[in-house]
Amino acid sequence: MPRLTVESDGVTIDILEGETILEGLYRNGFAYRIGCRRGGCAICKVDLVDGEVTYNRTVADTVLSDEERAAGTCLSCRAVPVTDVKIALREENLRRVSSLMAFAMKAAPRATSAQSQ
Ligand code: FES
Repeated sequence: MPRLTVESDGVTIDILEGETILEGLYRNGFAYRIGCRRGGCAICKVDLVDGEVTYNRTVADTVLSDEERAAGTCLSCRAVPVTDVKIALREENLRRVSSLMAFAMKAAPRATSAQSQ
């Protein structure tokens, strides 16, 4: 299970099988500015400081150029860690939720369909 470390906070997150960086962040109380969540708008970029990611779906060069990839930029909504990774969030995209809210998000049971009477 790859471990994601958020450089500015030192927070570590265990990434679930096939989980993207963005999904791991949200599951752990981070709120990062996003758009399409499909690899098309480029809003969700983070900087990969260490480690490797893969893309299970094609990401267009117009969204993430070869130069950006070489410099460590990745799309958090599509990038799946394959090793332990360390990332730097871009401050302009970061919105934090309180630790209480993060705890509640982790502890909350998944929504279930309404029960019939
Ligand atoms: S949210 Fe649009 S590319 Fe990630």
